[in-house]
Amino acid sequence: MKLTVNGTDHTVDVEEDMPLLWVLRDELGITGPKYGCGIAQCGACTVHINGMAARSCVTPVSAVDGADVTTIEGLGTPEALHAVQAAWIQHQVAQCGYCQSGQIMQAAALLAELPDPSDTDIDNAMSGNLCRCGTYPRIRAAVRTAAQSLKEV
Ligand code: FES
Ligand code: FES
Repeated sequence: MKLTVNGTDHTVDVEEDMPLLWVLRDELGITGPKYGCGIAQCGACTVHINGMAARSCVTPVSAVDGADVTTIEGLGTPEALHAVQAAWIQHQVAQCGYCQSGQIMQAAALLAELPDPSDTDIDNAMSGNLCRCGTYPRIRAAVRTAAQSLKEV
């Protein structure tokens, strides 16, 4: 199967039902997306597929044949952070960090779709991304900051 991850084309020789998360981590060595629950209940594995947030742990690789996949590694660069990444640093959101790549990918997808979200929009969009460290207030604040800075660009 062929897929494009963070702008690079890959051909992988794997079973069609292998979850995308496995392909990313074990076949391609892209370890930003994390394994949390494996059943689409925590959001730690969130990536973008053709720009939409998706749970890679329950997405068979056959579903992304020919698709454009973006992981946290491809969202921004250290020199040119995505607005969400910059806001995450500003608000020092991360605690243990395990859930955070999924949180950031979910937030970036939200702002791409809804540039000026209300607090309810933010809570709804982020409600499927769990954080055992309870960073939710900082996540909400950082999404607001990112939305503001995207507006100013
Ligand atoms: S690991 Fe995919 S949603 Fe939990
Ligand atoms: S920062 Fe630890 S689980 Fe979210």
